[in-house]
Amino acid sequence: MTVHIEGDAGRVVGPVPRRLFGSFVEHMGRSVYTGLYEPDHSTSDDRGFRGDVLELVRELGPSVLRYPGGNFVSGYRWEDGVGPDRPVRLDPAWHSVESNRFGLHEFAAWAEAAGAEVMYAVNLGTRGIQDAADVLEYCNHPGGTELSERRRANGADRPFGFKLWCLGNEMDGPWQIGHKTADEYGRLAAETARLMRMIDPAVELVVAGSSHADMPTFGSWERTVLRHTAELVDHISLHAYYQELHGDTDSYLASGAALDRFIGTTAGIIDETLTELGLDKKIGISVDEWNVWDLRRWNEVDQARLAEGGWREHPRIIEDDYTVTDAVVVGSLLSSLLRNVDRVTMANQAQLVNVIAPIRTEPGGPAWRQTTFHPFQRVAALASGVSLRLSVEGDRIRTAQHGEVDLVDVAATAGESGRGAVFLTNRATASPTEVRIRLRGARYGVYAAETLTTPEGGTRHTTNTAAAQPVRPVPLPGAAATSDPGGTTITVTLPPLSW
Ligand code: AHR
Repeated sequence: MTVHIEGDAGRVVGPVPRRLFGSFVEHMGRSVYTGLYEPDHSTSDDRGFRGDVLELVRELGPSVLRYPGGNFVSGYRWEDGVGPDRPVRLDPAWHSVESNRFGLHEFAAWAEAAGAEVMYAVNLGTRGIQDAADVLEYCNHPGGTELSERRRANGADRPFGFKLWCLGNEMDGPWQIGHKTADEYGRLAAETARLMRMIDPAVELVVAGSSHADMPTFGSWERTVLRHTAELVDHISLHAYYQELHGDTDSYLASGAALDRFIGTTAGIIDETLTELGLDKKIGISVDEWNVWDLRRWNEVDQARLAEGGWREHPRIIEDDYTVTDAVVVGSLLSSLLRNVDRVTMANQAQLVNVIAPIRTEPGGPAWRQTTFHPFQRVAALASGVSLRLSVEGDRIRTAQHGEVDLVDVAATAGESGRGAVFLTNRATASPTEVRIRLRGARYGVYAAETLTTPEGGTRHTTNTAAAQPVRPVPLPGAAATSDPGGTTITVTLPPLSW
C-alpha cells in the first residue's frame, strides 16, 4: 500500500505553542508519594525529590504541569499543604488518606527543578470565590498582606507568580465532588474569574469544558458556561481519554481522528457563542487531560480494590502498563494536537508519574520509561516552529467507532533553524505502508528516521517493565529525500502498527 502526503511549506496551521507539551501531577495514587516525592529513596535530595524521577522528567520535557488535580482538587483545602502544620485528611475523590506532607511550596520547587511552568487548579467543588482569591493572593501577591506574608514566612520570599489557573475540574461530571449544572458552574466560574482578575490582572484563566466527547451535556455545557464566562476567561478545557474496547484495534488506532473531531466541534461552539455574544476575542482550547487509559480496568478492578482496601495513603491505582499499541496511539494523539494548533493553546498528558503515566517507579526501587514516554519525549523535543497543513491521499480504514480514517496519520512541523519533523502513524496492523511525502517550497534532507513498533520477539501487547524496556524508538532504515527546485520528496516505508 502506498500513501501520498502533500504539503506546502507556506501553508501553515499556526505556531506550535510550547505549552502543547504539558503534563499533569495530581494527588492521586502514587503520583506524588513514592512517585516524584520519596524522602527515603536513595536518589532523593534533602527536599525528598527523587533524583531518578527528576532526571526522567527532564528528559521527557513537559513544558507546563497542571496541579494538584483532577478530581482531588474538588475536595482539597490548599492551606493544608503549606506551613509547618500539615493535617492528615480524607481524600474522598480517591478514597485515600492525604498526609499533606507535599503541598504548594514543594510542588513549586519541584516544578522549577523540572524546568516546567505551573498550572494551578482551584477548588470549585466544595469551595468557591474567596478560597480561589486567597490561594491566588498567597501565591502571587508580593507581600504586606496576611496571606502573602504567610507565604514569605513559609519560605517563599518572592511570589510564585503562577500565570495559568484552572477554574475547577470536570464540573460537568456527576462523579465530581460538588458537581454542578452548567448554569451553577458558569455563574460560580464567572464570579471567581472576576475576583481573581482583580487580584492579579496578569492571570490566564481556564474554564472547565466537557470531561469527554460522550458526555450527554457536551455542547450545551460549553454554550452555557461560555455565556457566563466568555468575557472573563482565556481558555476552555476539554478532557479526552481513549482505550481499546472489545479488541477493536482499528477504532483504537483512530483515536487521533476522534480527538480532531472533539477539538473541531468545541472550536465551532466557541466561535458560535462568541458571535452570539458579540465578543471580538479568542478563547483557546486547553486539552488539559488527554491520554490512553484502560477505563474498564479502573471500573471493574481498581475501584473495587480501592474500596475493599479501606482508607490508605497513596494506594496503587490506575498504574496502567502501556503496550506498543498504546504508544502508537499516544503518538497519533500528539499529531492531532499538532494539527490543531490554530485552536489548541495548551495540552496536558494525564498524568506524569505512576498514574496512567509515561514514568513508573517502585517505592525504594527503580524508575523507568513506559512505552508512551517515547512519543511524548520525541514530539516535545522535535516539534518546533510552525505546524504544516498537509493532505493525505491513499487507503482509508473503516472503523466501528470513528468512521473512515486515513491509513496513515500525519503531522509535520517546520522550525526556524531549517529543521523539520514529520510524525507518521501507520494504522495498518498487518502490513507495511509505503509513504511518499511531497513538500513544495522547501528543500530538506533526511537527518534521521526512527520508528516505535513491535520489538523483535515481541507482540503489539509488549510492555516495558522495571526489569526490561524493549519498547523504544529504533532507527528506521530506507528513508530518503530528494530535492528539486520545486521542493522535497521524502519516501519511507513504515512497519505495520508503528509510530
Ligand atoms: O487523570 C485521572 C482523573 O481523570 C482526573 O482526576 C479527572 O479529572 C479525570 O476524570
